[in-house]
Amino acid sequence: MLSFLNRWYRSRHNKDGNLDFKRLPRHLAIIMDGNGRWARRKGLPRVAGHRAGVEALRDIVKACVEWKIKILTVYAFSTENWKRPREEVSALMDLLVEYLRQELPELQQEGVQVRAIGRLEALPQQAQAELARARELTASNNRLIFNVALNYGSRAELVDACRKISAWVESGKLRPGEINEETISRALYTGDLPDPDLLIRPSGEMRLSNFLLWQLAYTELWVK
Ligand code: FPP
Repeated sequence: MLSFLNRWYRSRHNKDGNLDFKRLPRHLAIIMDGNGRWARRKGLPRVAGHRAGVEALRDIVKACVEWKIKILTVYAFSTENWKRPREEVSALMDLLVEYLRQELPELQQEGVQVRAIGRLEALPQQAQAELARARELTASNNRLIFNVALNYGSRAELVDACRKISAWVESGKLRPGEINEETISRALYTGDLPDPDLLIRPSGEMRLSNFLLWQLAYTELWVK
C-alpha cells in the first residue's frame, strides 16, 4: 500500500523535481483490504494478514504526517464484517485495542488527532474505551486528522444523517425547503471534513463496498 502512495507522491513532483504540494491530496481515504489474500499467498493464517495490515497502517500514518496530508480516513471494519468467523472478529478488535494502546504516545507526539466514525456503540466495551481515550487525548492536535471507520457502512451513515436532519426540522432549526447538498454533507459522520481527494483500494477490487458513497462522488480512485 505504501508503495502506491510513494508512486503517487512521486507523480506529484513538478518539472524541476520539487514536490508540488498543491497536487497532494488534502484528504486520503483507504479501504484496508487484501490482508486475507496476502496471508493466503504466504501460507499464513488470515490474522497474520491483518497484523501486517496494521504494520502498513503505521507507516502510512507516518507518511501522511511527513507529506503534510491533513486527513486520513481508513475503512477498518464494516457493518458487514460482523458476519466473519467469531475468532476473526475478535482478533480484529484485539488488534485495534493493541494498536491504540501502543501507538497513542507516538500519535500524540506527532500531532495526530484520532477520530472514529461509524456506529461505535456496537463495538466491544474495551475498544470503545480505548477509542474514547485516544479521541480525548488527541483532540487538540492538528497536523493530521486520522479517522478510523469502525462498524461503518455508508448506507447506515445516510440513514443516521436523515434522522439528524429530521430532528433539525422537528425542532424548527431548519425548514424542509432549506435542505440541500450542503445540509446532507454536514449531517454525515464526516460533517466537518472536506471530501477525500484520493481513494486507495490495495486489494484490486473494483467496488466501493459501502464506503463513503456520498463523499467519494468526485474522488480520484486508485485500485491495484
Ligand atoms: C478486509 O479485507 C479487512 C478487514 C476486515 C480488516 C482491516 C482491519 C485491520 C487490519 C485491523 C484493525 C484496524 C486498526 C485501525 C488498527 P481482508 O483483509 O479480509 O482481505 P481479503 O479481501 O483479502 O479477504
